Amino acid sequence: MDKILIEGGRRLEGRVRVSGAKNATLPLMCAALLADTPVTLKNVPDLMDVRTTAKLLRTMGVGVAIEGDAAVIDAARIASPEAPYELVKTMRASILVLGPLVARCGRARVSLPGGCAIGERPINLHLKGLEALGAAIRLTGGYVEAEAKRLRGDRLYLDFPTVTGTENLMMAAALAEGRTTIKNAAREPEIEDLAALLNRMGARIEGAGTDMITIEGASRLSGAEHTVIPDRIEAGTFMVAAGVTGGDLVLEGARLDHLEAAVAKFREAGLEITRDPSGAVRVRGGRPIRSVDVKTLPHPGFPTDLQAQMMVLMALSRGLSVITETVFENRFMHVPELRRMGARIETQGSRAIIEGVAGLDGAPVMASDLRASAALVLAGLAARGTTEVNRIYHLDRGYERMEAKFAAVGAAIRRVRG
Ligand code: UD1
Repeated sequence: MDKILIEGGRRLEGRVRVSGAKNATLPLMCAALLADTPVTLKNVPDLMDVRTTAKLLRTMGVGVAIEGDAAVIDAARIASPEAPYELVKTMRASILVLGPLVARCGRARVSLPGGCAIGERPINLHLKGLEALGAAIRLTGGYVEAEAKRLRGDRLYLDFPTVTGTENLMMAAALAEGRTTIKNAAREPEIEDLAALLNRMGARIEGAGTDMITIEGASRLSGAEHTVIPDRIEAGTFMVAAGVTGGDLVLEGARLDHLEAAVAKFREAGLEITRDPSGAVRVRGGRPIRSVDVKTLPHPGFPTDLQAQMMVLMALSRGLSVITETVFENRFMHVPELRRMGARIETQGSRAIIEGVAGLDGAPVMASDLRASAALVLAGLAARGTTEVNRIYHLDRGYERMEAKFAAVGAAIRRVRG
């Protein structure tokens, strides 16, 4: 298994290009299932999750051609509207095919994703919404089976603003008969990006990015071209990297309007975040890092996907801080690993209490999930001595060549193949 070796303590300086967003790309690829002519996506990141989604679509008989950062997806014919366990178990976002398949093919069979490292993560809200749109749902043999001759628009209310749930329902409603409204919808930028593609495909969606989305169903959707938004979580991860190394990074393509809550907290902690003359975002870390309290929330709140990285910043701050995780129930797996590097962190249920230390020490550590892995790399960049991050397949799921990007701005970091 590959691992990453880091000699910590180098100050990072230079320009980094932010890749296309993973969490936008996956639903955009699944949206292509709704169109009877090819969809072209640009600025597609080269990630394991993107390759898994391509594989998943190909098992259905859909044509997927990826060349450089462009993907052409041709779902003129869908031979089998099924998502097998072998693929779904490696990537929970596979559930995003459910809505489009039942809307386009009248039936779908998708493996239940099951639990994962960061909590139970049920899909009950996806299923409840599809049922309200007229799908008959059956759970059998670990699979969800959904059937509907033609979905019918309805008024939906989400108990929680689930991101992929909102996306699944928005895609299903785009081919339903009549109007659907989704109240308490998720407001993440990736939802807006998906609505933008669907509208180019011929859908009529309003309100994406707010908590109420209206979708006028169409009888058919056709292919279109779309450029994926930049990855706000990758950008936020690099901001923390500048913070913990006292560095000076220019992030090309980063969008501050997608990161307002995180940027506000990073600034409170002492990072200087500005636009440089080229329009890119410049991030400078200063000393001391100030301690700030953070609570994760659905967008536009502080993203749970930056919680682990923020904890590394706070681990090196002067003072005490409290990080409260409200989105997932079990997302502190990085804590014991960070403690092994000398961080002082106590957890009490959904709260982590962090007492900043002057420095961290390199150690062999184990990555447990995608964002926890990123946090361990950040800790390694700041630590004295060598850090060995194991199980980095998590990192490869969601970060495009992270070690190469860090090495290009002065980090002593390399991948060891094994
Ligand atoms: C998406 C992101 C993930 C991010 C998360 C929260 C993608 C591919 N993944 O995941 O990176 O961490 O949003 O910002 O975009 N819930 C239910 N019932 C449901 C659905 C969700 O109870 O049917 C709960 C979950 O258990 C969780 C919370 O809602 O506690 C938020 O989950 P959700 O927004 O659905 O996350 P994902 O869409 O899976």
